[in-house]
Amino acid sequence: MTTRVVAFLLTALLPLSLAHLNDPLAWLYTRNTQGNDHASLQADAAISACPDVCDCPPTFPVAMYCDGRGLTAVPSIPSHIKYLYLQNNAITALPDSALVNATSLVWLMLHHNQLTSEAIGAKAFLKLEALERLYLQHNSLTSIPANLPRTLKDLRMNHNKIEKVAVADLEGMDQLSLLYLHDNAITDMGTSLKALKSLMVLDISSNQLTKVPDSLPEQVHQLYMDHNSIDSLPESFLTSLTQLQYVRLAHNQLTDQGVPANTFNVSGLVELDLSFNRLERIPTVSTSLQHLYLQANRIKEFTLGSFCVFTDVTNFSRLQTLRLDGNEIGMEDIPADSSLCLRSASAIDV
Ligand SMILES: *[C@@H]1O[C@H](CO)[C@@H](O)[C@H](O)[C@H]1NC(C)=O
Ligand SMILES: *[C@@H]1O[C@H](CO)[C@@H](O)[C@H](O)[C@H]1NC(C)=O
Ligand SMILES: *[C@@H]1O[C@H](CO)[C@@H](O)[C@H](O)[C@H]1NC(C)=O
Repeated sequence: MTTRVVAFLLTALLPLSLAHLNDPLAWLYTRNTQGNDHASLQADAAISACPDVCDCPPTFPVAMYCDGRGLTAVPSIPSHIKYLYLQNNAITALPDSALVNATSLVWLMLHHNQLTSEAIGAKAFLKLEALERLYLQHNSLTSIPANLPRTLKDLRMNHNKIEKVAVADLEGMDQLSLLYLHDNAITDMGTSLKALKSLMVLDISSNQLTKVPDSLPEQVHQLYMDHNSIDSLPESFLTSLTQLQYVRLAHNQLTDQGVPANTFNVSGLVELDLSFNRLERIPTVSTSLQHLYLQANRIKEFTLGSFCVFTDVTNFSRLQTLRLDGNEIGMEDIPADSSLCLRSASAIDV
């Protein structure tokens, strides 16, 4: 409440003091025309004022906090607001008009609401030409909203009911570096990711994918595809991803037949999670890999050649963590000479 009063006083005083600088008698005619002035000041204030239900801190005047207030609709947004917090409400719709004045928005937080795809206008995001961060996770979307700003860097739509991702949904998002689509109902990503030149983090875990997306962007650094129904991997699908460091494929249906030889023998990889699959052999990995998770598979033998082809002073595995518990081998299956190859391993679980 106090912040609103202060904000109003500031806007009311500003034209007066400015006029004063130019004309020492300005206060006189300002008084005489007070009626008119008051009306225009009120109109100004109506556009730039903070809605009653929200907080606009005077110390951070470009932010508007409307989160967790039981809102069912988007309040009116002053055009100078850059950071808008609308999460944890019960907002059901985003009509075309809702954000028309919010042209300065850089962050728009709409997570944990009740938005459905049908209730989002096709032009709802059209005026947001500076938007970089859009959080729509934990809503009830069944598709990716139309006409999302191409300026986005961080797009989160996890925990929705999205079934399909079309090429047009993400086309031209050159700046996008993080995309969260986990915990949806996606069955196929098609070639929708191809154009995302800047994408570094992709999370498409907990969906209904039966295969790896066709064209993964080359800059990807973290690739999370766990909890899907993937049973095989395309030949050398990681070879072109030279920046890749973290790969999670846990809780899928991978078998030895579905994993081409040398798929994971790519340098640069730091962490590989293949736990909870149907592998019977330890796949060949690069000597640079540091963490390998293979628990809860059907591995029957310990193949040292999966880690080292040849061992000498410089040629050894950098593996630190190796989890093999929940397989069909025991400590006695690990040959004594393994310590030469696995000399960095601090934890081997069997
Ligand atoms: C947008 O601003 C105009 C005035 O410029 C106002 O009439 C309209 O109600 C505003 N719309 C919203 C949704 O805030
Ligand atoms: C893994 O890749 C390296 C480098 O490309 C190669 O020298 C090595 O033989 C490969 N390992 C296996 C088991 O094929
Ligand atoms: C490791 O051994 C392979 C032969 O198996 C050799 O081609 C490679 O150059 C060696 N790497 C280093 C770092 O010595």
